[in-house]
Amino acid sequence: MATEVISRIGVIGSGQMGAGIAEVCARAGTDVLVHDTTRDRVADGRTRILESLDRGVSSGALTEREREQACGRLRFTTDLDGFADRQMVCEAVVEDESVKSALFTALDAIVTDPDAVLASTTSSIPITRLGAATTDGHRVIGLHFFHPVPVLPLVELVTTSSTADVIAARAELFASDVLGKQVIRSEDRSGFVVNALLVPYLLSAIRMVENGLVTAEDVDRAMMLGCAHPMGPIKLADLVGLDTVKAIADTLFAEYAEPLYAPPPLLLSMVDAGRLGQKSGRGFYRYP
Ligand code: CAA
Repeated sequence: MATEVISRIGVIGSGQMGAGIAEVCARAGTDVLVHDTTRDRVADGRTRILESLDRGVSSGALTEREREQACGRLRFTTDLDGFADRQMVCEAVVEDESVKSALFTALDAIVTDPDAVLASTTSSIPITRLGAATTDGHRVIGLHFFHPVPVLPLVELVTTSSTADVIAARAELFASDVLGKQVIRSEDRSGFVVNALLVPYLLSAIRMVENGLVTAEDVDRAMMLGCAHPMGPIKLADLVGLDTVKAIADTLFAEYAEPLYAPPPLLLSMVDAGRLGQKSGRGFYRYP
């Protein structure tokens, strides 16, 4: 029922975004079922969440007892059928429209509650296209979190012309009152608000390095020291993942055909070489 507070959530994908969403939901008292495609991925996702919870304890953000309680609310699976009883599902898989669309078609058939929220945390794919993969799109919404999810307070909430008002209200209430996030609403356009601004900025910084105008270290120092950003654009691209930055740029460029969204050759070659940023141990910087 739409008026019921969400207490059972499913998260699909246990990479950096999925793990972060699962963690904040479990910390907020929600029963969380996390899905990934293989046992190895599930094991990696579990480790990611446990490490982040440990970090929360060492920084004083949560107590040992709260960490144990959060762990007790997390279950992991490789079987999507377990999502039948979920009141909300957050999809956080690879930034590939065909993969996400297939997943929404499957979820639409599996999740039984007609007022369940089917949310995508896509960075750039229009939600309308994911809604079109379901029967009528009324349960589908964009709920875009930011990495690291336990730290950054923003959620972009994206509705389409098919999203039911009760679904949007239910998702907003959950994000704000249960998770304690700040919600902004955005129209359903590629990149929504944040990535439509952020990604051209990251690409411009990469182009400056590519053209030999400045070193990666100095672009980063420039934006940290000159504009008080917590980290510079090159380090941030590494943190987001260079493959993800490329995928978002591809989607934005396909939609708007503006040169500022085109991924620069340096980014393409780094992705081809497997230099994906922090998660692969090497991007513009090396990570231990
Ligand atoms: N999980 C839990 N807590 C974490 C964490 C994590 N993964 N990462 C950092 N923290 C906590 C730390 O424990 C620390 O807590 P205390 O201050 O209470 O001790 C605090 O956050 C700060 O962390 P650090 O001291 O380790 O490091 P820092 O001060 O250099 O901050 C940062 C690191 C939070 C990543 C900061 O540099 C930052 O906010 N950078 C910008 C990140 C950003 O812009 N993200 C958006 C990316 S775009 C996106 O996500 C959307 C998309 O679609 C691409």
